[in-house]
Amino acid sequence: MDFAQISPPKTPSAWLDMDALDHNIALVNQKTQAVNLRLATKSIRSTDVLHYIKANSPNFIGLMSYAADESVYLLENGFDNILCAYPTLDMISVKKTFQYTKQGATMIWMVDRPEHVDMLNRVAQENETVIDICLDINMSMPLPKLYFGTKRSALLSKKDVKTLLKHIKKSANVNVCAAMGYEAQIAGLPEHLPGKALLTPAIRLLKNRSQKQVSQRRGSIVNWLKKQGYELQLVNGGGSGSMDFTSSQPEITEITVGSAYYKPAYFDYMDSMAAFQPAAGFVLPVTRQPEKGVITCHGGGFIASGAIGIDKAPVVHYPSNLTLLNDEGFGEVQTPMMLSKVGKKATKGDSDLKIGDAVWCRHAKAGELCEHFNELIGYRDASNQVQATNNESNDVNGSVSTGVKVLKTMTTYRGEGKCFH
Ligand SMILES: Cc1ncc(COP(=O)(O)O)c(C=O)c1O
Repeated sequence: MDFAQISPPKTPSAWLDMDALDHNIALVNQKTQAVNLRLATKSIRSTDVLHYIKANSPNFIGLMSYAADESVYLLENGFDNILCAYPTLDMISVKKTFQYTKQGATMIWMVDRPEHVDMLNRVAQENETVIDICLDINMSMPLPKLYFGTKRSALLSKKDVKTLLKHIKKSANVNVCAAMGYEAQIAGLPEHLPGKALLTPAIRLLKNRSQKQVSQRRGSIVNWLKKQGYELQLVNGGGSGSMDFTSSQPEITEITVGSAYYKPAYFDYMDSMAAFQPAAGFVLPVTRQPEKGVITCHGGGFIASGAIGIDKAPVVHYPSNLTLLNDEGFGEVQTPMMLSKVGKKATKGDSDLKIGDAVWCRHAKAGELCEHFNELIGYRDASNQVQATNNESNDVNGSVSTGVKVLKTMTTYRGEGKCFH
């Protein structure tokens, strides 16, 4: 998208480059065509965008939600086939889903501990129903001095699964209908962490080794479950960074993808994401100029979750000649930037930005961007207009300039007054 042509954009606001989004949707579809596609809602956080991706993804099967109350909200909004990715203690929301499941909707809850099973079993029993559950199999690779993976599920081995299943057999109101093995250390770990170039070969090596172990462990547990008579509706795996690998695994029936659609800055550091295009971010107004060569934007302090580091900070996307100040970074409500690259003297043209201009940035993570804005403003290059789908009838203010059009605003969860955790 030619950001220079969007003048003036609404600031601060969140942007969605519809051409880049379409590119990413097509690429996801191409990479995952061998399996079903489940959208990770935590990385989208907008029902408008979920509907848009769904409408353009032939292998779409359902959603991976991240919270129980969010799952209710998605069912209320007409979505079906929801797999809640993380165990929940919110039985009030679980109960609210029964009105939908009793009418045939698919709602599956994640478990990896007897406590999860007991709570679900109890609420199902009290409401004279049966709850579908999914076993979360831990795909991490523990090594003698390094745990290569994520510490979430307690089901690391077949033995762990067998023990939990023994407990589940005593629970008449839950039904094991699915298995998930999310290889986070392959799908979500970048090879090129900023300032850590020396780690790149080690990360690549570990990912490679881990892939072999994931294939073996997930494949053998799934085969064993089937031999025991469990009829698995789905075997879920993967994420944005492992599309090629996960889609090629014989035990997998579906892959989850979310971040690839917006391609936030954190995914710039990942080998497998090179062909994806940045599709979402936020744009800030330049409101101050404290000295020559420095401008200050209003807003910007949208830091991503995870282990604290520079890779969790937003990045400036356009114009390219701006540098953050080490002492300030992206500030809570003010973000100063130098009008030149570090170590270089300002050259002619660098000082072009003035008060009232816009600075286009990207968040490090995908869905978290949407927690800061009520809507994503969709732009499309006018020359690609012909491809605009019927979904784009909701123009907000038509043409803002010759080349780029504002097509549609997509409301975020936040814009709908929703805040899920
Ligand atoms: C269980 C699970 N599956 C899949 C994903 C992949 O999501 P994304 O494609 O946004 O990286 C995640 C992300 O954290 C996850 O927790």
